[in-house]
Amino acid sequence: MQKEVKSLLGKTFFIFQRFFVTMAAKVPTVKLNNGAEIPAFGLGTWKSKPGEVRAAVENAIDVGYRMIDCALAYQNENEVGQAIATKIKEGVVKREDLFVTGKLWNTFHRPDLVPIGIKKTLTDLGLDYVDLYLIHWPMGYKEDGELFPKDADGKFMYSDVDYLDTWKEMEAAVRAGQTKAIGFSNFNSDQVERVLQKGTIKPAMLQVECHPYLNQSKLIEWCQGKDIPVTAYSPLGSPDRPWAKPTDPNLLTDPKLEAIAKKYGKSTAQIILRWNAQRGLIIIPKTVSKARLEENISIFDFKLTHEDMELINSFDCNGRGCHLDWVKDHKYWPFNTPF
Ligand SMILES: NC(=O)c1ccc[n+]([C@@H]2O[C@H](COP(=O)([O-])OP(=O)(O)OC[C@H]3O[C@@H](n4cnc5c(N)ncnc54)[C@H](OP(=O)(O)O)[C@@H]3O)[C@@H](O)[C@H]2O)c1
Repeated sequence: MQKEVKSLLGKTFFIFQRFFVTMAAKVPTVKLNNGAEIPAFGLGTWKSKPGEVRAAVENAIDVGYRMIDCALAYQNENEVGQAIATKIKEGVVKREDLFVTGKLWNTFHRPDLVPIGIKKTLTDLGLDYVDLYLIHWPMGYKEDGELFPKDADGKFMYSDVDYLDTWKEMEAAVRAGQTKAIGFSNFNSDQVERVLQKGTIKPAMLQVECHPYLNQSKLIEWCQGKDIPVTAYSPLGSPDRPWAKPTDPNLLTDPKLEAIAKKYGKSTAQIILRWNAQRGLIIIPKTVSKARLEENISIFDFKLTHEDMELINSFDCNGRGCHLDWVKDHKYWPFNTPF
């Protein structure tokens, strides 16, 4: 009897697993310039605490997520790696089914530190390679110490390494097989253009903040013209960013978005995510809740009308959450140009 129950449970688990794999197949992909395909939807891991993030990644893979956005600066890659290892061991996915993104932190810009930064990510994640490796920010911070180095007055300490010199070592990481593709995050169009002019490997991705309060339409159009795909980070407006004030506008409780959600019978989060997906962007919402993991990925079975897309476009108010304006005097701080 016990044997029969076990076998039935096993079969049920298999059916569920197949169901979720089928669901995962519905997530569109975007072709990168190295021929690889990145799922247009993945899991963000910034602020997912140790103790929470392992279960979040395991649940995400179970419900069909195949792309995970990581970074050394999130200080949780070790647990993300444990979750990936578990799901590979259980046979739910193979390494090649997953698309893992890593990021070079600001204290690793000096050319000799780039291989050390990526090696730490690979070791923590327990992987031989990442699928995409990004320069996290164009600004370098003082090397060889804390990840967030500050002087006695609490002021960030900088490095003046040129991100072009960092980029050359990013290219070396591709040649060494540590990453399949390279790109950057938080670069403005002038900074991207400079790398396009001087680099030898074309950037495969620009990852920037993007949601209805900061729709980035100019930057996206510019990137599309250069054939550089864009990933939208903080796609829900990052309400849990550490410096958010209670009085800051919150996308998820915006009555205008709530009204649209009601019309479609969807959640506000689903409307916001669908809007970005429909613009051709790759999106990486973060959640540690199993119910929200399922809610967020369930946006590929409905379509917003042209009028509603335009309406949401009109909510832009230059509402940047990840401005890092405490380092705005850094010579490479990216947000002092139109886009
Ligand atoms: N390259 C960069 O510089 C950069 C910067 C920022 C972010 N990122 C990446 O982008 C990812 C996403 O951005 P983010 O973490 O800033 O913020 P986000 O994804 O816009 O928002 C995350 C917040 O929304 C909540 N949430 C998620 N789904 C929800 C739902 N369906 N309904 C209501 N609330 C929901 C989460 O809470 P719960 O977890 O409690 O569900 C969390 O508080 C990051 O995790 C990171 O991987 C990259």
